[in-house]
Amino acid sequence: MMNATLTISLAACVGWLIVSLFSRKPKRPPGPRRLPILGNTLQIPSTFQWLTFSKWAKEYGDIVYLEVFGQPMVLLNTHKSAKDLLEQRSPIYSDRPHLEMADFCGFDKTFVLYPAHDNWRQQRKIVTQDLGPRMLPRYYAFQEAEARLLAKNAIDDPGQLEGLVKRRIGTIIIRIAYGHYVSANDDPFLTLGKASMDIFNRASAPGVWLVDLMPVLKYLPSWLPGAGFITTAQGWREIVHKAAWDTYMWSKRSYESGSALLPNTCSTALEAVNGTLPRDLEEQVAWAVCTMMAGGMDTSMISTLNLFLEMMLNREVQVKAQNEIDLVIGRHRLPTIADRHSLPYVKSIVTEIFRLNTTVPLGIAHALREDDVYDGVHLPKGSIVIPNVWHMLHDPAVFSNPMRFDPDRYQNLDSEMAKVTDVAFGFGRRVCPGKAFGENTVFAFAATLLATCDIFPAVDENGQEIIPNVARQFSFSIRLQHQTAVKSCI
Ligand code: HEM
Repeated sequence: MMNATLTISLAACVGWLIVSLFSRKPKRPPGPRRLPILGNTLQIPSTFQWLTFSKWAKEYGDIVYLEVFGQPMVLLNTHKSAKDLLEQRSPIYSDRPHLEMADFCGFDKTFVLYPAHDNWRQQRKIVTQDLGPRMLPRYYAFQEAEARLLAKNAIDDPGQLEGLVKRRIGTIIIRIAYGHYVSANDDPFLTLGKASMDIFNRASAPGVWLVDLMPVLKYLPSWLPGAGFITTAQGWREIVHKAAWDTYMWSKRSYESGSALLPNTCSTALEAVNGTLPRDLEEQVAWAVCTMMAGGMDTSMISTLNLFLEMMLNREVQVKAQNEIDLVIGRHRLPTIADRHSLPYVKSIVTEIFRLNTTVPLGIAHALREDDVYDGVHLPKGSIVIPNVWHMLHDPAVFSNPMRFDPDRYQNLDSEMAKVTDVAFGFGRRVCPGKAFGENTVFAFAATLLATCDIFPAVDENGQEIIPNVARQFSFSIRLQHQTAVKSCI
């Protein structure tokens, strides 16, 4: 009897061991030690997170696992892992994390934050059909005209550089989105667009809003101490709503009266249905175009300011690009966007700006719809998946001497430049719909500026050049010198 019991117990133990060995879920990816409840919350800095994430990439490898108050987060540190998951497995990796504060402020209608369902598809199509490769030449002339204006205005008043860049970029995006030409710095299209972008940046900042972690807080009465975020959100919501609807309604009226500057995305959507959109579709158009404006403004502005910065710091690069322009285009006309394939060095400068000065260092987070296993590790459903774009573009295994501004690294080859542009604009179904348009805008600015100006650092009262510490400060001052030979062209 004793023997039989022992045999049964032993068999049960062995059976349990076999079952648990074979059915054990793969483990989570490696990552920094987590505290109970808080997880890694205290280890994630509130600014320059990508630098800390990049340090962890070196320590833990291609995929790093974090938790913030129980919310799983996965960092993807190589182009390969981002491609394998966000592109190859896009059906389950294309949602966005839920951002309660941003939703509360009215961004729940914008497709950048929609999960990858029907409304997202519908809004995204409104934008992609207007920014597709065959449509882009329609916009070259506006982009080039604004680049010429920037060169002219910056020569006259280099001290106002940031404001000038904002105005010219805003003018391009608003013109193609709504058919409106911005004619003053206080134009409501420009001020509303900027205000709603600032609100988006603040409302979607990770780890700032307690309501993101505890959504139930949004039901608190706004007079309760600690519930001030409700009043803030209500005020912001009004501005966001105006940014989407005042602009759309203006555009619709000007389309109806025949005064809109064509083509523009609102008019294209209205034209497709002979000017009569049902209310639900009208809602999709208003928010899609507003998302397009917001997506294109800050990114293009930052890239253009970085262009000035790097040209000012790298005089030899400027000279090399000017020689290329002289040789290929000459001095009787300005380079155009259509010339970009014959100006590979200028194109390399633009690519190097997107790499070194990474405009969107952590991309925009995706969310994982189902449990998944990759490379032997378990990635839990609901994870926030962050492509560490900055790390991918500064990985010495891919880009030697990565902190150096060096357009020569691409050897003038599109295939080498694609190593940057395939990463800097995001991945899979969510890849930036303004990618080619944005690249063209920055190319037009680069080619026009280099053809018309020499860019130098500003000088102090003793005539000494002021070289900014770019690791610490973004603001800088420049001096521009006109290249007289092409003066008549701008
Ligand atoms: C010029 C520099 C630009 C850079 C570096 C850039 C970068 C990005 C990145 C990294 C994403 C996230 C992709 C992902 O989720 O994987 C994105 C999304 C997006 N971008 Fe851009 N972008 C730029 C210009 C533009 C322009 C000019 C427009 C519109 C005219 C635009 C509109 C958008 C929109 C609407 C999304 C959201 C797409 C979605 O969620 O489906 N971007 N961009």
